[in-house]
Amino acid sequence: MADKFGTPLYIYSQRSFIDRFREIKRAFSKLNPLICYSVKANSNLSILKTLVKEGAGLDIVSGGELFRAKKVNCPAGRIVYASVGKTEEEIRDALDYGIFMFNVESESELKKIDSVSGMAKRKVKVSLRVNPGIKPDTHAYITTGKKENKFGISIEKAKKIFLKKVKYKNLDISGIHVHIGSQITDSAPFVKAVKKVKRLIVELARNKIKIKYFNLGGGLGIVYYKEKPQTAKEFAKKIIPLIAGLKCGIILEPGRFIAGNSGILITKVLYLKDTPVKRFIIVDAAMNDLIRPALYGAYHNIAPLVSNRKPAARNQKRVDVVGPVCESGDFLGKDRIMSAEEGEYLAVLGAGAYGFSMSSNYNSRLRAAEVLIRGNKVYLVRKREVYKDLIHNEAVLSL
Ligand code: LLP
Repeated sequence: MADKFGTPLYIYSQRSFIDRFREIKRAFSKLNPLICYSVKANSNLSILKTLVKEGAGLDIVSGGELFRAKKVNCPAGRIVYASVGKTEEEIRDALDYGIFMFNVESESELKKIDSVSGMAKRKVKVSLRVNPGIKPDTHAYITTGKKENKFGISIEKAKKIFLKKVKYKNLDISGIHVHIGSQITDSAPFVKAVKKVKRLIVELARNKIKIKYFNLGGGLGIVYYKEKPQTAKEFAKKIIPLIAGLKCGIILEPGRFIAGNSGILITKVLYLKDTPVKRFIIVDAAMNDLIRPALYGAYHNIAPLVSNRKPAARNQKRVDVVGPVCESGDFLGKDRIMSAEEGEYLAVLGAGAYGFSMSSNYNSRLRAAEVLIRGNKVYLVRKREVYKDLIHNEAVLSL
């Protein structure tokens, strides 16, 4: 595929996306949840279409993601919309499409959605996203449920809002949403968060306020290196007994769990460079293609794609795998023991989530192509950009 489509190249397995989706669905089947795949993890239209066809809903965070959801004909009743900064236009578009529910992150936003809904003569369902004040063991940038994070509303404040919810005439504030972070490999923080929300639900019930929907967010961790993440089944086993009695509709928003290990990034070795302190393997993919190592110090396994004819144990060295971008932070792997020769391909594993979707044109580099394997066929699901794409919205002043 690398020979045919060139590199850097994202390769996805449709089977894997489907299997991972079904794994969660099966684990939670007792509660018949609405599973809204988190579009931000991998928003390629063919991936979205695959999951929507499987019965998934979509968790969106922008007008652009709504646009994608519409493109794949995602039923409106299966779309939930989060984000701390929805614009009036985005809210209006989502109302027009008739999405299932907004996940609301502040009182100001609540007022805004109420007024926009009023103008549109609509009543819309709303979940309050609560911030339970929990710090899971993951990278600081991807925790979202700590008190100092910008996300959500404190439990105390959420309670106050629920108690005076009648004042929001155009809103049906009937759900609670909680998402505490991403790449969480242990169920303990989820359990803690769910218990806190459960207490709130019970307390509200005492005040005759019935919570109809409980959205548990996403965040399930996957294997990148040596992690031993909970399986969907183990996770469900911990969570279901806590929430089954609540009689709420359950919503889940997995992204990485479905996409992460369903895709890899193939890159070509351009040069080997030996310095007095180390060897650099310079490849044609860079931080603009996969920013996770640069941004979070994330670890992605890197596997040389060596033909069978070559001896398995070649002269292995400690190396940094780096891209061509002009930043010292531009690396895909540091201090790896491996060998590779110029012209060979490397596979960067676990690149299916937050890989292409976070890519950019930095250094005026073209964004990679994406292919999807379906059965024994390979489909190009996004063409590699060409130079014209880099400037098509730009104007050159006539000076
Ligand atoms: N729901 C909400 C409200 C979210 O904010 C997120 C992710 C998800 C669901 C999906 O989370 P997941 O199941 O994928 O963990 N770029 C980072 C991850 C950022 C996650 C942001 N929110 C990374 O590459 O690790």
